[in-house]
Amino acid sequence: MYNIAVAGTGYVGLVAGVCFAEMGHNVTCVDIDKEKIESMKKGKSPIYETGLEELMERNYQKGNLNFTTNHQLAYEKADAIFIGVGTPEQSDGSANLSHIATVARQIAESVVKDCLVVVKSTVPVGTNDKVEQFIEDFKVNDVHIEVASNPEFLSQGSAVKDTLSADRIIIGVESKWAEKMLKDIYKPFKIPIVSVNRRSAEMTKYASNDFLALKISYMNDIANLCELVGANIQDVAKGMSYDPRIGDKFLNAGIGYGGSCFPKDTKALEFLAKENGYDLKTVKAAIDVNEGQKGILFKKAKNRMITLSGLKVAVLGLTFKPGTDDLREAPSLENIPLLLEQGADIVAYDPIGINNFSKLYPTGYHGNGKISYTHSIEEALNEANLCFIFTEWNEIKETSIDTFVTKMKTPIIFDGRNIYSLEDVKNSSIEYHSVGREIVE
Ligand code: UGA
Repeated sequence: MYNIAVAGTGYVGLVAGVCFAEMGHNVTCVDIDKEKIESMKKGKSPIYETGLEELMERNYQKGNLNFTTNHQLAYEKADAIFIGVGTPEQSDGSANLSHIATVARQIAESVVKDCLVVVKSTVPVGTNDKVEQFIEDFKVNDVHIEVASNPEFLSQGSAVKDTLSADRIIIGVESKWAEKMLKDIYKPFKIPIVSVNRRSAEMTKYASNDFLALKISYMNDIANLCELVGANIQDVAKGMSYDPRIGDKFLNAGIGYGGSCFPKDTKALEFLAKENGYDLKTVKAAIDVNEGQKGILFKKAKNRMITLSGLKVAVLGLTFKPGTDDLREAPSLENIPLLLEQGADIVAYDPIGINNFSKLYPTGYHGNGKISYTHSIEEALNEANLCFIFTEWNEIKETSIDTFVTKMKTPIIFDGRNIYSLEDVKNSSIEYHSVGREIVE
């Protein structure tokens, strides 16, 4: 078993650290945020992920998982240091690598024995080479420090499960030494390991995410056409899904992809292509379609109503997808400001996203409109004129159509997640607008 240090305790770093500990390695998670470290020691995870706190607590009690702000101590004893810090998008679409550089510098100044540095964060192709050179330039002791790429493929909301039973582990290595160590570290996971060079590993991450983003944008594009020609996108997707070359996943049309990954990674790959003098037309198209898609519910509502001013609007779902409290690039953040600008009176429901959303939009007036929050779907719908569904939480999917009929003043629904079957809707008295399907009045 290995001594592993993990830099960064966000989705990537913390989940990796906890899962390595669960597999028997000795893990120290490092973060600059003292409060975060202290609360993790008390068993409180800074992120909401099913099963994470339980594993954190168990391994911390066992003594093979530790948390510290002292990077020096953690890096000194490590055989391998995994970097899982953020690479946020910059205004030009490129990835900001300043956090990676900070950690690389700390590693160069702390390491006292041979060590493998493993970049888990999503980074542009060629970054691992640069990190290795950077560490070499700043290295204090005469030790061998090599860099390997090991991109992360977990999805938020199912991060622990995705890590412990991933489809594959990609390792990008430039030596047998690095390959052996990474294969040893991952051996207990019993997951197929694909070993390639560093640049191919870095590219695999972007190519995979951008392919999925493209798949979603393609379905959204087809959905918009379905509306115009009287086809039903869900039936079309079902028919497509029987072809194993297409598969049955990521065919759901809706209000565009959000989150911290697809929007950022599509733009970063387009930027990388541009930098290299290449026009990456497919990914550009995916980005374009997504930009348009995020606002379609608002457009539909504006076309339907003379005015939104003074209307009571129920919003169901704030987070970018179910199972997370993350709001990054969430469709709610695109649509709610537009509704407020129009003077709507919003009551928003989300099972866990309210805390984060109300920090951005506190209860009260914002321009012409106002917003308040509730932990009850029925209360949000009470006397509402319109309802917008932005996130397909189970609690929302399980709400009967009857609840909309009995609670709302005028049951007009704009569903961005195609939650209800048109058959059920047609047997009710609601007015229902969804994506890529006919309007039911
Ligand atoms: C995504 C990838 O799925 C992971 O494999 C990857 O590791 C991760 O990014 C990352 O790079 O860290 P995530 O952003 O957590 O994971 O969420 P997804 O479940 O992929 O959903 C992304 C967006 O696509 C959501 O807004 C979701 O609503 C949307 N989506 C997904 C659709 O609109 N239609 C679909 O059929 C599927």
